Amino acid sequence: MHQIFSLDKFILNPVMNRFGLQVLRKVLFKLAYNLVTYRYSNDDPDVKDFKAKGYHVIHDFLSEEEFRDVEREYYQALEEVNSKPKIDHLGHYQLFEVLKDRNINVHHKVDINDDKYPRVFKCLLYHNRLQEFIKRALGCSYQPFFKQVTYKAKFERTVQINPGDQSKYVLKQSSNAQFHSDAVYPVVKAYFLISDVTKDNGAFRYVPSSNLVSLKQIVRMYRESNRKDLDDVKKGVRKELDAQRYSDNETERYGSIKHFVYPKNTLFFVDTSGMHARGYFLPNKTREIVYIDCRHNPFVEMRNRLLSKVGS
Ligand SMILES: [Fe+2]
Repeated sequence: MHQIFSLDKFILNPVMNRFGLQVLRKVLFKLAYNLVTYRYSNDDPDVKDFKAKGYHVIHDFLSEEEFRDVEREYYQALEEVNSKPKIDHLGHYQLFEVLKDRNINVHHKVDINDDKYPRVFKCLLYHNRLQEFIKRALGCSYQPFFKQVTYKAKFERTVQINPGDQSKYVLKQSSNAQFHSDAVYPVVKAYFLISDVTKDNGAFRYVPSSNLVSLKQIVRMYRESNRKDLDDVKKGVRKELDAQRYSDNETERYGSIKHFVYPKNTLFFVDTSGMHARGYFLPNKTREIVYIDCRHNPFVEMRNRLLSKVGS
């Protein structure tokens, strides 16, 4: 029972999935989510837009001066790690450090005394609008929000390396370049663009409104939850299971694909419970972003609110 309300991706019970348990779970999460965000989306047109479409874009997010500060800090940090790039198994440079230490995902807590990237903290991560948006979009009633939700933030520079044919798009190297959904519960991801992003350097792709509980999405989820390899995980034949991946053609059955082509200093939020994929890269093109990933269990939020009412 506990699993139904947890942030685990899958329910590994083939019989119950046949009866639609995973779909029921999706519906329950959505109801709980709508309940905890109801007031916020009425008050805030941006959050309302986010919930309806699964994304929201803010242009020219920082002032020119603030942007220059963040940009400077970003490239300083890049220089620091550039001398020792690590190439991951997908063939991407994963150059960047997370807030304090290399490759640390910050969960639950961000050290406000961190002085390594003060501009990013000051201008971006503690930006009022950003914090407020995430808090409202997740339905999180506590400040500061990152103490209550699973929260990660990192600089990310992606370079597509293709020593072979220079003329073709390289798509297959990362499984995130194929469409998928991250979770059955709403996830708020924020992308802040440090460089201009076009269709040549990894413009994020999304199927608008695929975060909603529509008949098409329910059918998709039902099929996914009855995949054969789900049983294999249950039996211990396979250790882990990744989200189901879809080709562009398959994806178009669920709606048209939006490419997030925007200039630097754009911030956009996406709910990655909807169908999304990393964009295409031409060889040696780079993409520089600050990436934030926030998740908050709406059932935990409901419990917290109830407890605080009882306590007061
Ligand atoms: Fe994803």
